Amino acid sequence: MRTRPLKVALLGCGVVGSEVARIMTTHADDLAARIGAPVELAGVAVRRPDKVREGIPAELITTDATALVKRGDIDVIVEVIGGVEPARTLITTAFEHGASVVSANKALLAQDGANLYAAAQEHGQDLYYEAAVAGAIPLIRPLRESLAGDKINRVMGIVNGTTNFILDKMDTSGAGYSEALDEATALGYAEADPTADVEGFDAAAKAAILAGIAFHTRVRLDDVYREGMTEVTAADFASAKQMGCTIKLLAICERAADGESVTARVHPAMIPLSHPLASVREAYNAVFVEADAAGQLMFYGPGAGGAPTASAVLGDLVAVCRNKLNEANGPGESAYTQLPVSPMGDVVTRYHISLDVADKPGVLAQVATVFAEHGVSIDTVRQQGKDGEASLVVVTHRAPDAALSGTVEALRKLDTVRGVASIMRVEGE
Ligand SMILES: NC(=O)c1ccc[n+]([C@@H]2O[C@H](COP(=O)([O-])OP(=O)(O)OC[C@H]3O[C@@H](n4cnc5c(N)ncnc54)[C@H](OP(=O)(O)O)[C@@H]3O)[C@@H](O)[C@H]2O)c1
Repeated sequence: MRTRPLKVALLGCGVVGSEVARIMTTHADDLAARIGAPVELAGVAVRRPDKVREGIPAELITTDATALVKRGDIDVIVEVIGGVEPARTLITTAFEHGASVVSANKALLAQDGANLYAAAQEHGQDLYYEAAVAGAIPLIRPLRESLAGDKINRVMGIVNGTTNFILDKMDTSGAGYSEALDEATALGYAEADPTADVEGFDAAAKAAILAGIAFHTRVRLDDVYREGMTEVTAADFASAKQMGCTIKLLAICERAADGESVTARVHPAMIPLSHPLASVREAYNAVFVEADAAGQLMFYGPGAGGAPTASAVLGDLVAVCRNKLNEANGPGESAYTQLPVSPMGDVVTRYHISLDVADKPGVLAQVATVFAEHGVSIDTVRQQGKDGEASLVVVTHRAPDAALSGTVEALRKLDTVRGVASIMRVEGE
């Protein structure tokens, strides 16, 4: 074993960074044996230098992250600051100064992954980011290495623990959205400002990363269709139950049937209770992958938290350190297929539509005509009368999302339709 240590600098020492530092210290001997050289924590950049950081020698702490990445003797930079800047500049500067990078930064990778890969390649360095999607769950490496010989057609996952916790509470306790969000906040599952989670931004960033790797093409955050889950109601869950379904916020990346394009989207959807993703409870994450030869695979586990996320970071750190010792590089960007990303209107899906209608003869026929005019065929219809009004629940067969949303717009204009109570896509069948 080499005795000269590999030097690692930590950018950020918060929820994830402090756990990375702890595991690097407590598992130092095992890490050295697995890598083939000791690993030395050579510097830690933070914003508040006076904060007490257990187990980290004070002389390693600095507020000058730029100077740390420019030192020139650092082998690997672990970026766990988050956000786009200064993380992006620090990472590219690290490559320029001979360091490989391990990052947990989904926001940055979804927005600018291609340029980061290019900078890594230009300077002969590695860029690893297992922790950026679904915390501890090994997913990036299985997709970009283990399944590199297969053809992935679909990746569908629960990739945000906060929203899964809220939806699970609504499902199991009958709570409304606000009540379930309050509980998630009180238990520390939701941040004070939960927008990034509940509006689907976090999941959309992960969908962009997953789609790009799965389909060997470039998918950016802006390419991902996004709907949050704040409008999901207890009534939606009641409807889902009647159909033998539950509701999840899903990130779905698909190759089109003709193989000529891909789509990536995030929205709440009903899924049958028999689907493996339906049983993912509380704040857990899971990703369901469908590939030509492998068939169906499911990856499941904790998608966030300091120690679980640090586990993924440490796995990357070991891989990158081994590459350094072997003077080799891990996989870079694979975007050779250059498949276009189609808009949401082209996605083929099913709708569950709940309408409030007048309870009189001919309404059903009128509604059915609207569906037919848009080329959408109906799977099931359920009607319930109540004091001169009725509710009509229609579940469609698969059709392009543009045709389905056009149908809903036309239904809204019918005199006999008092309102569209809910629209939910149905997936996983
Ligand atoms: N938390 C999770 O469960 C989780 C899961 C998966 C991925 N991630 C990703 O991991 C990354 C870190 O998340 P986190 O939860 O650990 O964040 P965090 O707790 O807010 O920690 C951020 C750290 O970065 C430091 N920092 C902020 N701005 C800085 C700057 N300009 N220069 C130097 N240091 C700076 C902060 O310093 P101070 O300590 O002085 O404030 C803090 O130590 C993010 O990309 C996040 O998306 C997190």
